Amino acid sequence: MYRKIDHIGIAVRSLGEAVERYRRLGVEAGDIEEVPDQKTRVALLRIGESRIELLEAMQEDSPVGRFLARRGEGLHHVCLSTDDIASELERLRRAGVRLIDDAPRRGAGGCLVAFVHPSSAGGVLIELSQAPAQPHEQQER
Ligand code: CO
Repeated sequence: MYRKIDHIGIAVRSLGEAVERYRRLGVEAGDIEEVPDQKTRVALLRIGESRIELLEAMQEDSPVGRFLARRGEGLHHVCLSTDDIASELERLRRAGVRLIDDAPRRGAGGCLVAFVHPSSAGGVLIELSQAPAQPHEQQER
């Protein structure tokens, strides 16, 4: 089961320029984080409870680098949050959904993430994300 739309991912050529663009719009970015697993650098913009993730490719031969070469800057993915990404992936696999990631991997902010192929989602890249357990939650287990 999904909780909510966690964030919208937007591919940009320059994180610095994009952060400045959003600042002019009145939205401040948080710290920039490198996600080596996906060869991207990301900056999160918080708008109330909602978030936008700006994605810059660390090299051309990377998912975001190839996206930018093919389609230019713009909407890259929609991320849905879940409490149990492993069972969600298993459910999707059984439903015949085409997955990019068979197993979750490490995303920004210590999250576990996996991507659903756009061919199974009407041309939209869907990311699933499970937030890291909060310290007090770990103690309860
Ligand atoms: Co994302």
